Amino acid sequence: MAKTALVTGILGQDGPYLAKHLLDNGYKVYGMMSRYSNPNFQNTDYLGISKDINFIEGDLTDESSLMGVVKHARPDEVYNLAAQSFVGSSWEQAKHTTEVNSLGVLYMLNAIKLLSPTTKFYQASTSEMFGTGIENGYQDENTQFHPRSPYGVSKVYAYWMTVNYRESFGMFTCNGILFNHESPIRGIQFVTRKITDGVAKIKHGLAKELRLGNLDAKRDWGFAGDYVEAMHLMLQAAEPDDYVVATGETHTVQEFVELAFDAAGISDWKSYITIDPRFKRPAEVPNLLGKAEKAKKQLGWTPKVTFPELVKMMVEADLKRYEIQKRNSA
Ligand code: NAP
Ligand code: GDD
Repeated sequence: MAKTALVTGILGQDGPYLAKHLLDNGYKVYGMMSRYSNPNFQNTDYLGISKDINFIEGDLTDESSLMGVVKHARPDEVYNLAAQSFVGSSWEQAKHTTEVNSLGVLYMLNAIKLLSPTTKFYQASTSEMFGTGIENGYQDENTQFHPRSPYGVSKVYAYWMTVNYRESFGMFTCNGILFNHESPIRGIQFVTRKITDGVAKIKHGLAKELRLGNLDAKRDWGFAGDYVEAMHLMLQAAEPDDYVVATGETHTVQEFVELAFDAAGISDWKSYITIDPRFKRPAEVPNLLGKAEKAKKQLGWTPKVTFPELVKMMVEADLKRYEIQKRNSA
């Protein structure tokens, strides 16, 4: 019989990629979204799967709504991707970030424990939990957490609650500690998409500059389409566990900028970049570099898309968007 999955955060970046992967594997997919009133289906439309998803309303901060969702969907697997996921906003909205990212996970775990305790649970944990921890030159499952933002702190709580429900109640709960992953449907506020969108605007004569913050920050960037496969594999393993998912390569924001301008055929990137202190953070995570050996060995997971391929894919998608926009308004 086909398995049923519930994916929260279905209208974000990862939700659609994961839903597509699950649909391709024969799953029935329920996609939870917080707002029925004015939903934005552009990401599920982009992947051509909106018609195949059973959309269902629920908010992570509303425990009774989660009970309703779990009761209705009766999922074999829950992938909790919903979050206030933008680090930059988490200082201004620390309470909201905590309510969604920490308490929301507790509420979901409780709903599963009460209504469907054999359901497997995936929690979207993050390399932001490591913060400054790069003692060995890389971060893996044994690296100590030292979160540097309210977002990172909120995710540490959720991480441990996920571990705790496994240890306390024998539930099949897993943390995927994912490093940054991007795609053409990445939110526009994140630096990669901000860059590729900005480059496309400049190329089409719609903007003259791109304002950024810290160009020296280093991130281990992969492709979202590859990373959702690791999420799925975790819930197919014989035992529940926690895994780092990363490419094992790190690059500066500046390197991303250079490659993005290059992909659009613009050579003098420096003349378009303005450093704007508004985009610098009160505390920065300077360097992320993951070692995903455990996921490779135990799950057989490896990333496929390389860093230059990722940048090119995102630039080309944004160039195409503005081409279509121009054509439609001509
Ligand atoms: P995203 O694009 O920001 O998507 C998150 C989704 O959660 C949004 O569609 C948002 O919907 C929804 N949401 C927010 N608050 C909610 C609430 N109270 N109830 C129900 N839904 C709510 O994030 P993503 O990039 O897909 O990432 C997915 C998950 O992985 C997140 O938990 C993120 O923290 C984590 N993560 C991401 C990365 C990465 O590099 N992408 C790396 C590690 C971990 P609205 O906008 O409509 O509120
Ligand atoms: N957003 C943004 N905007 N970031 C900038 C800018 C800018 O104008 N200029 C420089 N940066 C730097 C940030 O300071 C940070 O060091 C880096 O670019 C990446 O920023 P984001 O793309 O916003 O991502 P993030 O690393 O803070 O968080 C993402 O990855 C986490 C996993 O490590 C998010 O997806 C989180 O939800 C995720 O957990």
